[in-house]
Amino acid sequence: MSLVLLFLFLFSIFLLYRSLSSTKPNLPPAPASLPFIGHLHLVDSRTPHRSFHSLSLHYGNPDSSRLILLNLPSPTLVVSTASDAELVLKTHDLAFASRPASFSEAILVNGTGQGVSFSEYGNYWRQSKKFTVVHLLGQKRVFSAPFRAAHAEEVTAMMDHIAANKGEINLSDCFYAYANGVVSHAIAGKENNAQRLRELTDDLSAILANGSLYQLAAEVFPGIGKLITKVSGLDKKFELYNRNWNQFMAEIIEDKKKTANTKEEDFLDVLLRARDDGTAGFDLTENDIIAIVRDITAAATDTTFNTLEWIMYSCLS
Ligand code: HEM
Repeated sequence: MSLVLLFLFLFSIFLLYRSLSSTKPNLPPAPASLPFIGHLHLVDSRTPHRSFHSLSLHYGNPDSSRLILLNLPSPTLVVSTASDAELVLKTHDLAFASRPASFSEAILVNGTGQGVSFSEYGNYWRQSKKFTVVHLLGQKRVFSAPFRAAHAEEVTAMMDHIAANKGEINLSDCFYAYANGVVSHAIAGKENNAQRLRELTDDLSAILANGSLYQLAAEVFPGIGKLITKVSGLDKKFELYNRNWNQFMAEIIEDKKKTANTKEEDFLDVLLRARDDGTAGFDLTENDIIAIVRDITAAATDTTFNTLEWIMYSCLS
């Protein structure tokens, strides 16, 4: 009898061990993948959103959500429905807050401060995001008279440009100039600064667009990622951009120190004031200010002009 009990006891331990050791993480479905490149061959680089859409319709679970997991080649969660986007960006925001830095992001971040886009989840992330949302992107500032005037001015400039052009016109260029114009006004006021800010944003966009193949190669082969960014000259281009950006920002900040501000504050004024009177809620250095401004410029430009392109495309189709 005691032998039977011992056998049953050991057998139940074995079953428990097997069930625990075979527990797989409950990951979203994924198509079969290839070695090294994972699912890259399934994604059309010109229209990745279409590939993601059809892959999630095909492999996503129709009864729950359409989430799928792709290796591109690092594991990437593809979120295709509005309710899942809400779960990721709102309900579980903190779980998704930190992101792995790519080689190009690492060069950008090392060249300036942390900023809001690339900082790791933690006190700095919380405080810098809160400050940005409350003090720079809040309704009060967005609807303030100078910002509305800047917006109206950029819309008028865009409409005048379109009206003056009798032949074909590249609306993408117009939308880009408009989006960048509005954010440049908001960040550094009107004068010469806005034009230079626009040129620097163009430089960054050009580096990112022209170097996208090398950036992808660096992510696919992380072991030689540094070598790829070096041989392709990407690291030098980013470093030059960083130098120009930092120098330009330092000049504006120096100018602002010299001249008393008589107008409504722009984003840089707000950040500098918060640094000087210590109301930021975290240790806000000049490098952080430079990086936050860079992140806002990047976050505001492509998103806005892409949305406008889509609206125009939908109206015409
Ligand atoms: C149609 C236009 C826009 C869209 C679709 C859009 C979308 C988004 C999304 C989805 C995020 C969250 C990113 C994440 O947490 O991973 C984000 C973050 C952010 N956006 Fe926008 N945005 C738009 C316009 C703007 C504008 C005009 C500004 C500033 C003037 C701005 C500034 C920011 C900032 C500072 C962040 C936080 C930084 C980050 O997490 O990377 N955005 N935006």
